[in-house]
Amino acid sequence: MAAETTKRGGFGGKLAAILAAAGSAIGLGNIWRFPYITSEHGGGAFIIIYLCCILFLGLPLLIAEFSVGHNSKCNPVDAFSKIKRGWGWLGAAGLISVTLIMGYYFVISGWTLNYAIASATNSIDGDYGAFFTEFTTGTWAPLIFTYIFILANHFIIIGGVQGGIEKASKVMMPLLFVILIVLAVYSLWLPDGREALGNVFTPDFSKVSGKTFLDAMGQAFFTLSIGMGAMLVYGSYFKKGTKIAGTAISVVSLDTIVALTAAVIIFSAGVENESGMQLAFVAMPKVFSAMPAGNVWATLFFLLLGLAALSSTISMHEAVTSYFVEKRGMSRKAGAWLVTFIALALATVASLSLGAWSGFTVLDMNFFSLLDNFTAIVMLPILGIMTAVFVGWIWRKEDMKAELTAEGGIDAKTYPVVRFLLRYVCPVLVSIVFIFGLIDFFNNL
Ligand code: PHE
Repeated sequence: MAAETTKRGGFGGKLAAILAAAGSAIGLGNIWRFPYITSEHGGGAFIIIYLCCILFLGLPLLIAEFSVGHNSKCNPVDAFSKIKRGWGWLGAAGLISVTLIMGYYFVISGWTLNYAIASATNSIDGDYGAFFTEFTTGTWAPLIFTYIFILANHFIIIGGVQGGIEKASKVMMPLLFVILIVLAVYSLWLPDGREALGNVFTPDFSKVSGKTFLDAMGQAFFTLSIGMGAMLVYGSYFKKGTKIAGTAISVVSLDTIVALTAAVIIFSAGVENESGMQLAFVAMPKVFSAMPAGNVWATLFFLLLGLAALSSTISMHEAVTSYFVEKRGMSRKAGAWLVTFIALALATVASLSLGAWSGFTVLDMNFFSLLDNFTAIVMLPILGIMTAVFVGWIWRKEDMKAELTAEGGIDAKTYPVVRFLLRYVCPVLVSIVFIFGLIDFFNNL
């Protein structure tokens, strides 16, 4: 057993656990996605609904996922089946989803690299929209940056849990926080910034619809990396004595602070009416270019985005790698290469589907949007519901309680609240939002 534990590797301590898991959570979802869906849905009103989703659905599910990992000390597939035979498919479904997410997430991550370099060398001139379209629909340029990003990711994974993931998180996360604070202070220092900020954070309930709830929930799950095996596998690397609930609360708090701060930075630049990818890659460079030392700010912004993306992609990659290593008996190197090749293949198709292969569509979506929509609209809610059902109904009550309350974890008074949320609130609410969301999605096709 001891040999097995050593072979598996794990995080050196509590801080490492928090930084790595916060690294998984904080990603493109916080800096690129959160601000634009917030503005689409009426600013402050959306934020209130989102925060409720984080607190009542996201936090208990994150605690659930960490506990399954920590309790079983296994890769996502074995983790579920070790607790209850016949449930390994839930882990497998998470791994398939996270693999599909990697397919498009790596492409956007590659763009951040190109934009950081282009900003540093001042080579984005003129029309920012045209630059974006030309770059992203091109064949080789986006592919090369995506490949570089995937390889950087690969070499961190090869370094192992402590020597790779933990080390990288300890460097990347503090750097990310510093850049974020510098950008936020600068934004608030601009008078226009403070004014725009007030406008955006003021709730406008007239923009709230059924879709607002679906988007808020989807965003909460995506940003906390829920149901994909990533948090589960990190939970399995927590040292004995790591408090599950405490770690989850720290991760959720950091993730929320970063999302709100990113919204402050972006809204204070007065670009809240731009939507989607355009916001980060077209509107922001334009704003920066009008500022003194604009290219320095732009470089910092894209570095921030790239760092956030990298700390998230390593958790995606690790979840799948751990499966090949533990379940399929591969060496860490071989397992990591296999995942890297799958990621390279999917990302290649996703990137080309924006340009050369944009003619191939399913339900009117190219491969890139298909990966994004299928995982966000279908897989995330289903995995969320099933994880809650598993922990709330399938896992033996005494074992689950022992895991959650062990080692100074959740106290006896809070425990029933978490259990109630997982047994009733999560499955019911997520199902309702999921069904209405699907209906809405197909109506809008
Ligand atoms: N949480 C990450 C983000 O906000 C995305 C992610 C999803 C990471 C699934 C790991 C697993 O960008």
